[in-house]
Amino acid sequence: MIEPMITLTGRTMSAVIEPRGDAPPVWRWWGGTVDARGLPSLADTRPAASFSLDIDQPLAVVPAFGTGWFGPPALRAHRDGRHSAQWFETVSIETGDDGLTITLVDRAARLTLVQRIAVAGDLLTLSGEVVNDGEDVLEIEWLAAGTLPLPGDCAQIHSFTGRHNAEFVPQAEPMPAHGWVRENRRGLTGHAGPPGLFVSGPASGWHAGRVHAAQLAWSGNHRLAVERDDDGVWVLQMGEALAPGEIRLAPGDRYATPEMLATCSGEGLNCAMQAFHAAIRARAPWPAGGMRSRPVHVNSWEGFYFDHDEAALMALADRSAALGVERFVLDDGWFKGRDDDTAALGDWVPDPVKYPRGLRPLAAHIVGLGMEFGLWVEPEMINPDSDLARAHPDWALHVNGVPQHTSRNQLVLDLGRSEVRDYLFARLHALLTELPIAYLKWDHNRDLAVAGGADGRAGYHAQVRGAYALFDRLGAAHPALEIEACAGGGGRIDAGIAARTHRFWTSDCIDAVSRVRMQRGFLHFMPPEMMGAHVGASPAHSTGRSQGMAFRAAVALPGHFGVELDPATMAETDAATLAGGIARYKALRDRLHHGRVWLGEGPDGLVWQAHGKPDDLILQVTRVEPTTVRRPPAIVLPMLAGRGALRVHLLDVATEAGHPAPDAPVFAAMRDGGVVYSGDWLAQAGLPTPAMKAESAALFRIEPA
Ligand code: DGJ
Repeated sequence: MIEPMITLTGRTMSAVIEPRGDAPPVWRWWGGTVDARGLPSLADTRPAASFSLDIDQPLAVVPAFGTGWFGPPALRAHRDGRHSAQWFETVSIETGDDGLTITLVDRAARLTLVQRIAVAGDLLTLSGEVVNDGEDVLEIEWLAAGTLPLPGDCAQIHSFTGRHNAEFVPQAEPMPAHGWVRENRRGLTGHAGPPGLFVSGPASGWHAGRVHAAQLAWSGNHRLAVERDDDGVWVLQMGEALAPGEIRLAPGDRYATPEMLATCSGEGLNCAMQAFHAAIRARAPWPAGGMRSRPVHVNSWEGFYFDHDEAALMALADRSAALGVERFVLDDGWFKGRDDDTAALGDWVPDPVKYPRGLRPLAAHIVGLGMEFGLWVEPEMINPDSDLARAHPDWALHVNGVPQHTSRNQLVLDLGRSEVRDYLFARLHALLTELPIAYLKWDHNRDLAVAGGADGRAGYHAQVRGAYALFDRLGAAHPALEIEACAGGGGRIDAGIAARTHRFWTSDCIDAVSRVRMQRGFLHFMPPEMMGAHVGASPAHSTGRSQGMAFRAAVALPGHFGVELDPATMAETDAATLAGGIARYKALRDRLHHGRVWLGEGPDGLVWQAHGKPDDLILQVTRVEPTTVRRPPAIVLPMLAGRGALRVHLLDVATEAGHPAPDAPVFAAMRDGGVVYSGDWLAQAGLPTPAMKAESAALFRIEPA
């Protein structure tokens, strides 16, 4: 008897699985929506291949190693070198409204493997778990969170690379003839951005065509792989990259993978990104009542670095409040002995020299101005020159006999140890209880090496689980607390930590030109309300490049807006422009942060992004390089097709004053009451853009006429 296919369906995506009785279920499809009812079985569809095994082994949902499937296995495990080949039997496939759970056993190797696949909207959430049913240690070398098929006509893999100050550098590569792997062994997500990728189908782009995408919800070592199998199609896997000997399961123990979030869009990259945004929003730890409007920040770092002085910081608070700032974040430099980056990490008490009265007067001053008070911490870190290191020299990750490498003069505390987590919880809890702290900026400024735990084994996995446990404990004890994830800028941006934090520090590079590309990369995976976007000084500290204040404020506008400079150093005209930018952000933030986001490119180097609903949008068009054409081009907005009559308002062109380019009368009309176009016109002929100089941004509102 042929069992019916199991189809998981989203709006533009279907995933079809064929159960095969006791044999493990196999993948039939993951792509655009299909009707798989009555589909002939795979056994009836595949001719035998010459010189192949007499038993056919197509791509299983959980492919096994060593028993006839020659593609990438979901599990690599053994018992002291034995039982490395798995022969799975299906125990059950439980289906529910939100997905399915497949339970397989290998009776010879004595293990159970559970694969969960949930579906919500256009998103599949996959995770695996293995249980040791035997009587001796089961060593796990690899367990994929999910294994997914990619169709044979895929065209390109789009991923990101990066470093400190240069996150989200886009990469596009052709589909591999053999394999494509991105493996991270830094113990931390890394500056390339979240562990994720996009795979474009034939003729796909921002707005149309098939795009598969996936990201792993994990803040540590990871492996993303696309391998071409013998049938000429590709297999996508993601999972934690385990160090040798890292996961050894005692009898009855289990290992669970992080979750893999996967989506397939029939409407281009934008639709895939929007599915990710929806998924991250669904995981967000907002207190009951949901997300408040994202408050404008001021951060003390680039204005003051380690040079803390209570009176100067109170003056910063005064000037910031006058500009319209709503949250003051006191960055690195506030704790005992922290005069530079060589000492004091771990000693989380206010510095008695810089703050003889403690932090309370500064915090009270900030709160008195109507702002929230936020504090920088780097809990996982310890300087060898600290009271904590002197008291507990064994608390840092290490391997006996191997040199302990410092990075930025610091070592990493072993969060696999409960006493370390307890110490950190106690210190952070005390600060949060003693001071009116509404917000923590939680930094992590180095990679993990050498990362041995107390038992001498690799401690990467335990480190991530330990950090998550600390975040969770703190969140439970302080449910109103908001946390920003930072790791030397964007070194820990991923869906795992996104379930525990409320904002990401996108990059230490606040150069607005660099930020245009970086922030577009960020939006591939994460929603705009989590994207820390600051107005920095000019020239930018990271690049030495200068940009005008209007452009700096415009580039920060779509994210979670902040200021990271000392307003005392600004010209009066810049202060007025910045105050205007803050007011604009406050007026628009709830539109920018709740809807869908579309990215697009226009002719002649223009890039754009639209936030909101398809017929009610804020649109920002950005020009980085000078134009090369005589008259400004129109930009085509495909998501407006079929939306009826739409009124277009030009809210602003953020550019430097002086030497204005001539403008057409329609832009005066757009500024004054708006101009009506049909959605179809805007989607095909396009929206005219005003003359724009290099490093400028035009802001539109598009609403039903
Ligand atoms: C790295 C962060 O990215 C910066 O914003 C700042 O917080 C420094 N660390 C402080 O040491």
